[in-house]
Amino acid sequence: MTAKVDEIAPDVFRICVYVPDFQLQFNHFLIRDDEPLLFHAGLRAMFPLVREAVGRVLDPSKLRWIAFSHFESDECGALNHWLELAPAAQAACSLVGTIVGVDDYAIRPSRGLADGDVLATGKYRFRFCSTKHVPHGWDAGLLFEETQRTLLCSDLFHHAGDGEAVTGSDVVARSKATILEYQKGPLADYLPYTPMTARILKKLAALKPKTLAIMHGSSFTGNGEQALLDLDTVFREVFGG
Ligand SMILES: [Fe+2]
Ligand SMILES: [Fe+2]
Repeated sequence: MTAKVDEIAPDVFRICVYVPDFQLQFNHFLIRDDEPLLFHAGLRAMFPLVREAVGRVLDPSKLRWIAFSHFESDECGALNHWLELAPAAQAACSLVGTIVGVDDYAIRPSRGLADGDVLATGKYRFRFCSTKHVPHGWDAGLLFEETQRTLLCSDLFHHAGDGEAVTGSDVVARSKATILEYQKGPLADYLPYTPMTARILKKLAALKPKTLAIMHGSSFTGNGEQALLDLDTVFREVFGG
């Protein structure tokens, strides 16, 4: 098994590992810049595959930031492997994440980001958006790269299948189909629709992303604002009670 690597936006490389048993892609996003950033450390079991794929773009030992949305194995399971490999690397996640999980788990202190903080990697600027309980987890947050308008979406727009690296077609419909399928089994209730959910998704929509870098499924290019508003409608229908 090898990972697929595609540049989905300038200097944003999507490293995709497809797991047929789950019919699911696990995507890791590598940003090539003065301070290289990897969004999603990935599962520990996938570390050799993802490390080899990172190595096709840049020297993995030069990674500076290992960022992720929330404390879950596919987001940060291999975090310590990266920290061991790259001496200057540091985890970057929400301030809540550092306090309630990451700083106990990681071998070095992480950088805790508050809503609105900017993590500059060189020519690119990542705005941290606190998204508590969206997609799930008290510690959830996302990064928005402001110069190219790329939103690193974590589990938002999650959809099944081994689709293309980037699509302009309807990822909301794909995501709805996957969520409805999950509602039939043990993976039901993926997201808690809280009083904050619509506000958070509207705030993300207002960023007007051009590219949605999606953890599970194809990335999207097009009207990211409308896609996020439509996703809220789906979440409200399925999880809003
Ligand atoms: Fe998750
Ligand atoms: Fe995930």
